[in-house]
Amino acid sequence: ARTPVTVTVTGAAGQIGYALLFRIASGQLLGADTPVRLRLLEIPQAVKAAEGTAMELDDCAFPLLDGIDIFDDATQAFAGANVALLVGARPRTKGMERGDLLEANGGIFKPQGEAINAGAADDIKVLVVGNPANTNALIAQQHAPDVPAERFTAMTRLDHNRALAQLSKKAGVSVSEITKLTIWGNHSATQYPDVFHAEIASKNAAETVNDQAWLENDFIPTVAKRGAAIIEARGASSAASAASAAVDHVHTWVNGTAEGDWTSMAVVSDGSYGVPEGLISSFPVTTKDGRWEIVQGLEINDFSRARIDASVGELAEERDAVRKLGLI
Ligand code: NAI
Repeated sequence: ARTPVTVTVTGAAGQIGYALLFRIASGQLLGADTPVRLRLLEIPQAVKAAEGTAMELDDCAFPLLDGIDIFDDATQAFAGANVALLVGARPRTKGMERGDLLEANGGIFKPQGEAINAGAADDIKVLVVGNPANTNALIAQQHAPDVPAERFTAMTRLDHNRALAQLSKKAGVSVSEITKLTIWGNHSATQYPDVFHAEIASKNAAETVNDQAWLENDFIPTVAKRGAAIIEARGASSAASAASAAVDHVHTWVNGTAEGDWTSMAVVSDGSYGVPEGLISSFPVTTKDGRWEIVQGLEINDFSRARIDASVGELAEERDAVRKLGLI
């Protein structure tokens, strides 16, 4: 058997945590031949609930689950971590200003970045799910100066999967026939799901669908506002689909994208496509041997340019706000 991989999950007692941990322990995160050791981080009040989830994980008798430890201390939780899923975050409550939200999350992601810097394994890969995910990832990354910046990523895979689902329904094809879809920018309502480079059964998706009104008035807002629609219908925010996307994100990062396809990940910008260097923004990326690369050379039409710029502008504002607050 292979040596176990240590996976740290924060917010383990939350609703995404409850959907996510069983998928990880069953082998879906890394592959069916890789044992996992779970390290769970929660706030002290939620440790007992995390212990309850750990009891259920034991009761699944997953052959690949090599052990579970639960912590309320970040330094301990990230010690030796190969993969870190940062799910726990401070949600926006009624009447909360953006500055307050960023400040509260800075109080979580700064110490977690420091703990990753101090004690994670050399090959650490970080996925931030907790919102505002891109900026939380930036805060953590800025406090982990010894970890290569490219190891900090934020999740737009749920948006990517939502876009796949909408396009597959519109075109009447299976999601598996769609490739090269891209989410650009921030994981927020300004995100831009781009079908101009996507392909349906190897033909250009935008040309195949040939319906600009649908694209502008239906597809883009449906994908961008899907989170709110789920809350409206379910009475709770997306959890199983978010967990599934987190599993997809890490699985793709570790195991690689298929030949002729790419995925969407929020990664540190090198200035590609005019996205200011250092921002953690969603791009089309290919992955291989545990490394990602931004897909180069795509032509960006005016319609896409305006939407990418708007979302990236929002990310720059968030970065400036956390800078002003002294969080980075
Ligand atoms: P939840 O409120 O059910 O669970 C969050 C958990 O995090 C709670 O158990 C809480 O005790 C814990 N927590 C809070 N501060 C912590 C800290 N400092 N250390 C460790 N644990 C801490 O929330 P849910 O539904 O599980 O969502 C988690 C986050 O994921 C939210 O920020 C949500 O907005 C975000 N999200 C992101 C998505 C994306 O596509 N990027 C999609 C869906 C949700």
